[in-house]
Amino acid sequence: MNQSSTIILGIESSCDDTSAAVICDGKVLANIIANQEVHKKYGGVVPELASRAHQQNIVPVVDAALKEANIKKGQLTAVAYTNGPGLLGSLLVGSSFAKSFAMGLNIPSIAINHMQGHILAHFIDEKDEAPKLKPSFPFLCLTVSGGHTQIVKVINFFEMEVIGETIDDAAGEAFDKVAKMLQLPYPGGPLVDKLAQEGNPDKFNFPHPNVGDLSFSFSGLKTSVLYFLQKEIANNSHFIEENLNDICAGVQKTIVAILMEKIENAIKITGIKEVAIAGGVSANSGLRSALLQLQQKNIRVFIPKFSYCTDNAAMIAITGYYHLKTNQPLEATMSPNARLKL
Ligand code: KG4
Ligand code: ZN
Repeated sequence: MNQSSTIILGIESSCDDTSAAVICDGKVLANIIANQEVHKKYGGVVPELASRAHQQNIVPVVDAALKEANIKKGQLTAVAYTNGPGLLGSLLVGSSFAKSFAMGLNIPSIAINHMQGHILAHFIDEKDEAPKLKPSFPFLCLTVSGGHTQIVKVINFFEMEVIGETIDDAAGEAFDKVAKMLQLPYPGGPLVDKLAQEGNPDKFNFPHPNVGDLSFSFSGLKTSVLYFLQKEIANNSHFIEENLNDICAGVQKTIVAILMEKIENAIKITGIKEVAIAGGVSANSGLRSALLQLQQKNIRVFIPKFSYCTDNAAMIAITGYYHLKTNQPLEATMSPNARLKL
């Protein structure tokens, strides 16, 4: 670090994780995430409770990030914060804090699109490691989270075109809803993944949707799992507990196959041979190994570190860093937008 270093504080509060990160010249010095346990007993995120928990967490989380990074407030170049999409109350806590903090320090605040952040997480470098191999433009990114399932053509840091998306549920939502039917706690995606690893993926088969070349649909899968479970439970009330791992493996295999089919279509249609994944579902072991197999077809594959798959502020800080580096306009008065598009 030197006098001319660019040091960004990133703040993420779009859903139920409060996170703050410090990035110096593209390298992470700290990335602190406070998860909110309060939602577990409700089986999903309760927006009002999420904003209250963000209010409690934001100051200690920012403080912890600055301390871990060994950075004083006065050394910061800018504050980058998530401006949307997400839960409006949650976004308001992070964005109000970030803008006032930046104003107090007389430095710029930079509004960041959360989904752009997930994608640009591929450009994060680690403090004590050599710069890692990064995707080159243009590349395709499959963004799969609790609220989104999109194929994005990433033309440069800030020019991104959505070329395919879901017509109903997101992939993460499909994981979570099936998990709920299986009486697993929220968020069910990581648990389904864990149980699937012990199960037989071919014991139960579920249908694939028939939608456009680059469109996704998961609501049919959700309904077919529901009817399947109702039918089996009518014969055997212990059906779920006796077959949990195999059901999870079958559902995961189907979701991964749907995602892979569309990404392979996108490679064919665009001719682009660089593919990345981003968002919470990119932590899924089945998806990660299916994607790696594309390397046998001469496709360059980029898979984020686990800590940058789910929501984190390092991805917001790195997006802020490239925002400054590529001289994007700063819009200081931006209000959060719950439905912000890419
Ligand atoms: O990106 P993210 O942290 O938050 C949103 O922006 O939505 O994604 C959260 C989603 C949840 O639906 C969660 O169940 C899912 O990502 N998820 C997973 C895994 N880890 C997180 N789904 C499947 N397998 C996983 N290992
Ligand atoms: Zn996210």
